[in-house]
Amino acid sequence: MINFAEIRKQIEIDLAAVNDKNSLEVFRIKYLGGKGVVKEVYSSLSSVAPGDKPSFGKEANALKNDLSAMIEQKTLEIKSLGSKSSDNQIDLTLPGVFQKVGRPHVLHQTIEEICASFEKLGFVVQEGPEIETEFNNFTALNIPAEHPSRDSFDTFYVQAEDTTNKGRNLLLRSQTSPGQIRVMQNNKPPLAVIIPGKVYRPDAVDASHSFMFHQIEGLLVDVDVKFSDLKGLLTVFCQKFFSEEIKMRFRPHYFPFTEPSAEVDISCYICKGKGCSVCGKKGWLEIMGCGMVHPKVFEHAGYPKGKYTGLAFGMGVERIAMLKYGINDIRLFYENDKRFLEQF
Ligand code: DAH
Repeated sequence: MINFAEIRKQIEIDLAAVNDKNSLEVFRIKYLGGKGVVKEVYSSLSSVAPGDKPSFGKEANALKNDLSAMIEQKTLEIKSLGSKSSDNQIDLTLPGVFQKVGRPHVLHQTIEEICASFEKLGFVVQEGPEIETEFNNFTALNIPAEHPSRDSFDTFYVQAEDTTNKGRNLLLRSQTSPGQIRVMQNNKPPLAVIIPGKVYRPDAVDASHSFMFHQIEGLLVDVDVKFSDLKGLLTVFCQKFFSEEIKMRFRPHYFPFTEPSAEVDISCYICKGKGCSVCGKKGWLEIMGCGMVHPKVFEHAGYPKGKYTGLAFGMGVERIAMLKYGINDIRLFYENDKRFLEQF
């Protein structure tokens, strides 16, 4: 005699054990196959008492339909499981994908190192905008209107709206020196800041020129800053940054925003001053400009006349990195060639 309740109980147990395509097929054959349980149920219909036949038939049909629905449902479940794991299992024996760890760009490293040297000496890092006013970039720095660097051949002007020539035009800063003006307009001495950043000049690109490069500016203002402070400060920096053995010299120079002004040379650390291809047989390498802040600059920044003195300096980061690491072409910095960058 067929016991539907028992069959359903068994179905429940068997279905719970189905966990992949193969076991589902075994289940299907057991219940819906040619010699399966459902077939057996239908075959036994003839031996059922005539009065019970309708209800038996109903139960048999329900059983068959339920089984079909269960198989359909299970097929979907296995499929979705399979796409996650069984068909697509992670093979832990495969070699992994090697992820290289990146590093800061050599120019970034150089900027960090230079700034850190000055931070140890009490300077604070400040940054200014790359789009500057003509006033901050030139006028306030005592660079006169007729100075060739103000020409559009030497500076990228981005917006010329001021025809009165008061310096309100906008440009891509051609030096980090305008940061001096911003710092002084917003702070009272004593102050000591170091200002790194990108600068732009419409130069044709070659081994030593680029339309964009990096500079670091320094400014220290107080009531009694002397030229000897400037020399002492830069000597300490050069010895820390390049080597304890290098010699440093100040060469008189002219910058509109400092008076007196000097260019700083270090003895060539490659030939130790004897003369080689890096120093152009001179034995000295020019590394930065510097001087005592010009009174006109204090005036433009809004400081009271004669109250403060200050020192300033500015250096090109690419040039310093090229000297330090013996790099002979500025374009290498910007090409993103890992063979070059990985060396630093
Ligand atoms: N701004 C100068 C340049 O771009 C570099 C410089 C020279 C900055 C002397 C200074 C300085 O602060 O005192 O060539």
